[in-house]
Amino acid sequence: MSNGNLRNVAGHLKSQKVELVRADFADSRALAELLPGSDVVVHLAALVSVTKSVADPESSRRTNAEGTIKLLDQCVINGVKKFIFASSAAVYGESNPPLKEDMSCKPLSPYAASKVAGEAYCHAYANSYDLETVILRFMNVYGPRRSGGPYSGVMTKFAEALQQGKGLMIYGDGEQERDFVHVSDVVSSIAAAMTNPKAVGETFNIGSGVPTSINGLAELFISAGGKRVPIEHGPARKAEIKASYADISKARGVLEYSPTFELRKGVGEYLTWYQENCEIQTNAD
Ligand SMILES: NC(=O)c1ccc[n+]([C@@H]2O[C@H](COP(=O)([O-])OP(=O)(O)OC[C@H]3O[C@@H](n4cnc5c(N)ncnc54)[C@H](O)[C@@H]3O)[C@@H](O)[C@H]2O)c1
Repeated sequence: MSNGNLRNVAGHLKSQKVELVRADFADSRALAELLPGSDVVVHLAALVSVTKSVADPESSRRTNAEGTIKLLDQCVINGVKKFIFASSAAVYGESNPPLKEDMSCKPLSPYAASKVAGEAYCHAYANSYDLETVILRFMNVYGPRRSGGPYSGVMTKFAEALQQGKGLMIYGDGEQERDFVHVSDVVSSIAAAMTNPKAVGETFNIGSGVPTSINGLAELFISAGGKRVPIEHGPARKAEIKASYADISKARGVLEYSPTFELRKGVGEYLTWYQENCEIQTNAD
């Protein structure tokens, strides 16, 4: 629980269908108890802040790269059949969009490099042992329960500003483009990766496939908030990638992945959630 909030899973815990175990995902003793009999491991845990990975590359390497390798080891030892790995658009670095899975990886941060390492070990373990792996490269995921804080991303910062009645701050000219994908669409991609035999051994981009500029996103937030607030442009961020969005045709074809959540609706829903819940959200990043 280095990030996130137990309240986010409270409903699931009450349902009795989910068991929560608090442990380091690379702790072999805990895994030796938990993994036997498991069909699939979906590996989402990571230190996710790119900025923090630059400031503290060792933690990012230890958790994201070495931790993933240890988890893969335990999956092999304990007879897990399938491993789904949450990778990231960050592996593409400055590559020209639309990003395609067969482009070469050009990691620009320790975080991105740790994801490339995780992917490489997934391939190696799938080839060397009796473990099926699927790699999902998520674009910019958003939706309810996304926690706040300085590393939380543009959606949370816009929601926070509107809630405080402030204007929106945009780095640079705001024409930088991102691929925002709703968490419910990401969940459907994970479910497909778990069950579809054609996914085994493959890597998929999971996004909306639609580029959205930060200026465009700001307008969606202002419209959802129902009140005109000023937009301020600050200095551009150093080495910020200009455009990042995915070609999702492979996931559409193989996984039958079909993102359905329209961004305008998603922004409205997220802002409402934020306004109703943010006081009780703790900033754990
Ligand atoms: N959110 C995005 O836009 C996005 C984009 C690309 C990839 N991803 C990847 O998707 C996954 C989920 O991201 P998220 O946005 O939900 O991040 P998150 O920070 O909300 O979730 C990651 C979780 O991992 C946990 N964790 C970290 N180290 C751990 C350890 N040693 N043992 C056990 N748990 C540990 C954290 O406490 C946190 O709850 C990550 O692997 C991330 O790299 C996310």
